[in-house]
Amino acid sequence: MIGTYPGIHFGADYNPDQWPSSILDEDIALMKEAGVTMVTPAVFSWARLEPAEGVFDFAWLDEVMDRLAAAGIAVDLATATASPPPWMGHRHPDTLPVTAEGTTLLWGSRQQYNPSSATFRAACARLVTAMAERYGHHPALAMWHVGNEYACHITESFDPESRAAFRVWLEQRYGSLDELNRVWGTSFWSQHYGSWEEIMPPAPLPTFANPAHTLDWRRFSADALFTCFANEVRILREATPDIPITTNFMGMLPWLDYWKWAELVDVVSNDTYPDPSDPRAARALALEADLMRSLGKGRPFVQMEQTSSAVQWRPRNAPKRPGQFALWSLELVARGADAICQFQWRQSEAGSEMFHSGMVSHAGRESAVWPEVVHTGDLLATLGEVRGSRVRSRTAIVWDWENAWAIAAAIGPVVGDGFAAAARWHATLFERGYAVDFVRVDADMSGYDLVIVPSLFLGADRAAGPLAAAADAGATVVVTHGSGYLRDDGHAYPGGYLGPLAELLGVRVLDIMPRGDGPVEGEAIGTTARISGAVTTRDTCTVDWDGRELRSEWWAERVAVDAADVLAHFRGVDVDGLPAITRRSVGKGEAWYLAAELDADGRDDLVAEVERRIGLAPDLPAAPAGIEAVRRGDHLFLLNHSDRTRTVDGVTGTDLLTGAGITGGVEVAPRSGVVVRTGGE
Ligand code: GLA
Repeated sequence: MIGTYPGIHFGADYNPDQWPSSILDEDIALMKEAGVTMVTPAVFSWARLEPAEGVFDFAWLDEVMDRLAAAGIAVDLATATASPPPWMGHRHPDTLPVTAEGTTLLWGSRQQYNPSSATFRAACARLVTAMAERYGHHPALAMWHVGNEYACHITESFDPESRAAFRVWLEQRYGSLDELNRVWGTSFWSQHYGSWEEIMPPAPLPTFANPAHTLDWRRFSADALFTCFANEVRILREATPDIPITTNFMGMLPWLDYWKWAELVDVVSNDTYPDPSDPRAARALALEADLMRSLGKGRPFVQMEQTSSAVQWRPRNAPKRPGQFALWSLELVARGADAICQFQWRQSEAGSEMFHSGMVSHAGRESAVWPEVVHTGDLLATLGEVRGSRVRSRTAIVWDWENAWAIAAAIGPVVGDGFAAAARWHATLFERGYAVDFVRVDADMSGYDLVIVPSLFLGADRAAGPLAAAADAGATVVVTHGSGYLRDDGHAYPGGYLGPLAELLGVRVLDIMPRGDGPVEGEAIGTTARISGAVTTRDTCTVDWDGRELRSEWWAERVAVDAADVLAHFRGVDVDGLPAITRRSVGKGEAWYLAAELDADGRDDLVAEVERRIGLAPDLPAAPAGIEAVRRGDHLFLLNHSDRTRTVDGVTGTDLLTGAGITGGVEVAPRSGVVVRTGGE
């Protein structure tokens, strides 16, 4: 529980330091009207809290904390280290980040820090210690909010201090230069290193960087930010062991291994900003919610930021449609959120985000946003009994940041598709009505009915055991193309890809055969191209699955079938008749391999086939179009994302939002939700 509030928290980033302190009266009155129960002050207040180096001014924050405590509003207090004040860079240029091209990034926006800077880290420690001493026992304090969105803007720095730290990090990782030279494969292109000092970050180079070098730089840079975070956590844990700690994640952010970060927080929290003009927004929200719940090992998470209406940073900033703020908030709760917070409480009147919506708009209570805010607060206030309950998912997707980094660092064979593959499979499961767990490569997956492993380029060494155990216990394991190319040390598996997964799947990948619709570059081939016009290339191919024709987009592999049934074959130039989908019985379950990149229809077909074979079904089979149905604990959330009233049959219980009884079916109005207490599955 965060603080003492027994329900689903509702709140926002709270930045009253942008106004005279007289704003507090009005703010607190409006918070009460909206049902706000928790706010996050001081996220970007370092310059106000420490106006000159080592000189602190807490007076304004004291007043804010006291007033919030008196109003019974819990505080998720930021450590304020997210954006150093101008004096920092001015007095200590070593704290400023440097780009790969050597440009120093100055103050004037935010997050201008070099993660490896000892000066910056010491300044953070000083501020966090002061914050913990001042507010660690304040009655309003319910949670610590460390930094803000690490790696949102700064993911790496190429300054001399980072360069030196990289060498130390490599020395710790490899122990010897011989081992580094082996892992990096420096016999290629005359890259052998004779001393640690010769090693540089992979800043601009004449041509392709060594993928192992790039991958280690990514790991090092992620670790540098993690150390900044861990340093603050250490201080806070010592000062206030009973106060939970969080830092706000950013969904599938490619730069940080959130599995590792999640181990260090007490509460996982996330920021999400789907585009209201994108019909797939609810899908994007579902993916992030599923991921956050999974990072917390199924525990509820905090939605630390979304917005009440429009952002200001897209080329076109669509406001939320009527009802959408409440609907999306319910969707987040359905998938495991125990707090719904926004950026930010009051819309700024100056600065870069003055046109980003707040819960209180420039037009105040007269804005169309205000009734949406009050309505959302009212709904959340009825959901107290949902707090703490769990979502039980029968489907899982294997997700690993190192894998994505390895794909991004590789020079071919795939161009940067690490995150997208998992998102595509999640989309398929979302549209079919599932809540999905994401799992680490080395997790115990034996409780799931369906486990999808999208393009596990690196990680097969760690995944092979858990996947085999899951299949043995009855799961259907579906591994897709592009998997098992690299060993954990980053070298290619000899003897056919899939490496240690080959035994489970009964196949090995012998050749990679990416497809495409004609040449990537140059003018179209016209009718006068006497020679070129007569050449046949490998364009997009299809997959013949028992007479069904599925599209295989941009990918094919030639596999050797050692011990599996071939379910479907490729059709197309040079792949005609080759196995495209295979299946092998393993213990009580099955292991499938897809050598093809199926499009959305093909993926849907495949999941439907698995459902038929093993009797898998979503929480609400055959839900009407536009209805997302998610079961959390004893409650079934029915969320209507469409513009038409939908009738959902086969539902009996009580609607928590209205208190109305439901017998056999319920109508759900456009862009709204019904939360049914069903009393269990
Ligand atoms: C991020 C930041 C916030 C704010 C919002 C705007 O999530 O954490 O401070 O800038 O973006 O959408």
